[in-house]
Amino acid sequence: MHSAATAAHPDMHHSETVYELTNVGKTYGQDVVALENVSIALHKGSFSSVIGSSGCGKSTLLKIMAGLIPPSKGRVVLQDQPVLGPRVDIGMMFQQATLFPWRTTIENIVLPIEIRDGQAAAENAKSRARELIELVGLKGFENAYPSQLSGGMAQRASICRMLITDPAVLLLDEPFSAVDELTRDFMNMELQRICLDRNATAFLVTHSISEAVILSDVVYVMAPRPGRVAEVVEVELSRPRNLDMITTPQFSEIVHHIRARLDEEAGQ
Ligand SMILES: Nc1ncnc2c1ncn2[C@@H]1O[C@H](COP(=O)(O)OP(=O)(O)OP(=O)(O)O)[C@@H](O)[C@H]1O
Ligand SMILES: [Mg+2]
Repeated sequence: MHSAATAAHPDMHHSETVYELTNVGKTYGQDVVALENVSIALHKGSFSSVIGSSGCGKSTLLKIMAGLIPPSKGRVVLQDQPVLGPRVDIGMMFQQATLFPWRTTIENIVLPIEIRDGQAAAENAKSRARELIELVGLKGFENAYPSQLSGGMAQRASICRMLITDPAVLLLDEPFSAVDELTRDFMNMELQRICLDRNATAFLVTHSISEAVILSDVVYVMAPRPGRVAEVVEVELSRPRNLDMITTPQFSEIVHHIRARLDEEAGQ
């Protein structure tokens, strides 16, 4: 499980590094060390997750990666450019869908284009938005308002809004934790399909070990106080993944290993 290249991803370790954090640290105020010495390299087309106990610094890490807050130490580089603030090549998705209730599905999806390039560009982006709507299975709901969508449908609209600017990296902070388990499983498989389709580079914060394992090529296991990467676990299950893999011994072994590691870190 810790060996290098895998049969399923012969190129993964050779493909270019899209996103690189080097010795990143974050201290809030005088003495809350939220992150210490975090180094992460995301390869193009890879799916990575970060898992760890509450307060270990996961959201802090994602906010730094998104350019929403600066690190206290270290380097954060996306596509060879230091991340100094929010960028168009970074897509983000949060726990809640955060759609504007007075805008239709398609109007919500083209909003990032409208903000960046203006009304006319947003109008032009609508054909692209329709393709994305079809990709996520929301066809027929283009002109629905958020109040007419289920939680899972609203998150699908959020996926489209994240993808409309064609970001280099997708940062996901527990995007499906507010939907029921069946929908969540389905959405995770959809997310995988979309990422594979687009060769997207994704980074997911989750509290669920099995979710991290089923989706990821690499799982970063974090330890608290100070928040740091305790172990990097490579998941060598083949792609595309499917939910049946959850019952395989290989899957159980990885989940068990990560759980033991988290328990160990929590006990210290
Ligand atoms: N704006 C802030 N000011 C001061 N301390 C903060 C701030 N944000 C986070 N912290 C502290 O930094 C640490 C890490 O917080 P963070 O929100 O990154 O954890 P998390 O891993 O996302 O937790 P959870 O799983 O509960 O979402 C915690 O000790 C928290 O109290
Ligand atoms: Mg958090």
